[in-house]
Amino acid sequence: MTTLLTMPSGLQTVSYLAASVLFILSLGGLSTQATAGRGNWYGIIGMAIAVIATALGANIQGHAYLIAFMAVGAVIGIVLAKRVEMTSMPQLVAVLHSFVGLAAVLVGFSSYLAPETSQLSGAAHSIHLIEIFLGIFIGSVTFTGSIIAWGKLEGKIRSKPLLYPGRHMVNLAIVVGSLIALIPFLGMDEASGLVVLVAMTVASGVLGIFLVMAIGGADMPVVVSMLNSYSGWAAAAAGFMLSNDLLIVTGALVGSSGAILSYIMCAAMNRSFFSVIFGGFGANEGAVAKGSATAIVGELKPINIDETSELLKAAKHVVIVPGYGMAVAKAQYPVYELVKKLKARGTEVKFAIHPVAGRLPGHMNVLLAEASVPYDIVLEMDEVNPELPETDVVIVLGANDIVNPSALEDASSPIYGMPVIEAWKAKTVIVSKRSNAAGYAGIENPLFYKDNTRMLYGDAKKSVDGLVAAIERE
Ligand code: TAP
Repeated sequence: MTTLLTMPSGLQTVSYLAASVLFILSLGGLSTQATAGRGNWYGIIGMAIAVIATALGANIQGHAYLIAFMAVGAVIGIVLAKRVEMTSMPQLVAVLHSFVGLAAVLVGFSSYLAPETSQLSGAAHSIHLIEIFLGIFIGSVTFTGSIIAWGKLEGKIRSKPLLYPGRHMVNLAIVVGSLIALIPFLGMDEASGLVVLVAMTVASGVLGIFLVMAIGGADMPVVVSMLNSYSGWAAAAAGFMLSNDLLIVTGALVGSSGAILSYIMCAAMNRSFFSVIFGGFGANEGAVAKGSATAIVGELKPINIDETSELLKAAKHVVIVPGYGMAVAKAQYPVYELVKKLKARGTEVKFAIHPVAGRLPGHMNVLLAEASVPYDIVLEMDEVNPELPETDVVIVLGANDIVNPSALEDASSPIYGMPVIEAWKAKTVIVSKRSNAAGYAGIENPLFYKDNTRMLYGDAKKSVDGLVAAIERE
């Protein structure tokens, strides 16, 4: 086996410490748009240090193989990352989580079969076996769960939740059965222990499939974030098995940040974390809107491009509320052109971002940054809501649920209690969407019927292109 160079263990510890600090700085940086680029770099440098320090560790051999595999992995990673569309990002993330889960399973089996494991005795042996058992359990749930999540997001598996009677009992039985199997496993010889480990891997893999199959397609972003958390704990477990402190720290950072993110997403949708995880909601995206218990009054009033451009030219304050439809239409580029045209006329233009606009945390922020929209005109929902009564025109660009007044006014609505952007308080609201179809929650939106609302039907990009051209024509 080729060994290029070995790093002294002291230097490796310092490198691990530096990488851990960089990962923490990276997470901190990613919390605001202005520092996100820097946060990304901290993460990249931290990971480069981590990989080099690990590869040059004392008992690592076969550097030629390592370099070859890393080169192949890097090429695949670069090609995938360059090709992926922003709207397909959850799929890519799900696939990457499945790799972490699979890696934890493989590390678990190789640790179990490693000669060092059988040389351990007493409490040290039992603790190591528990690490292996739990690492494989979490890894296997993450692996199969992430593959199902990928399949649902990619449309390869039906996105409707698979809800059958007694499914919670079946899932619980797998968890309890696996934990019970851990007790005899601790006293078994290697061959019988291997049989138990394989059986538990299959059972936990089935659990991963059942858990994610029960969740509606549109709830998948929360599930992906939850699987992100699982993959972190799987990596931390692998860190214990390999006695690698950096993997433990990194795994714990990913595990806890994924859990916090899932919680924040649920809070912003006014959904309980458990109702998302145990499924059954949100399979109605694109469906014909359902009526609400409170009758909707008013009628839909269409508007065309020229009329909209006249309204915009006369406006002093304009707020744009982007949503999932802007992402689908890729309207972020022309919308920034529109903003520049309006600003040149002296109009004040801002963007209002709802915490769960789109399908990913920070989805809209990333798209607007991609189109070079300056951060200082991109405001959070809480900052913008008080300004809306003084706003002349709000353009709702491919958004729906996040501007739905039922969330505040209709106690029977599934989204009642969800904080929303109160677009209807502006003097005029222009809603750009293709039809009267519902959004993610599959419910009617009374905003479209309000006296001060006009419907600008059509693809968001085409509509905004039309508005830019109309304002230029002046
Ligand atoms: P939605 O409520 O899904 O509404 C999007 C609207 O865009 C649809 O009504 C659709 O109407 C329109 N649209 C689609 N393609 C379009 C196109 N090419 N041009 C113009 N309009 C188009 O989106 P939202 O307002 O962004 O709300 C997000 C929803 O996702 C919330 O319910 C939220 O809870 C949920 N969710 C978000 C997240 C995160 S973290 N962001 C996670 C899980 C769930 P037409 O079909 O008529 O065009």
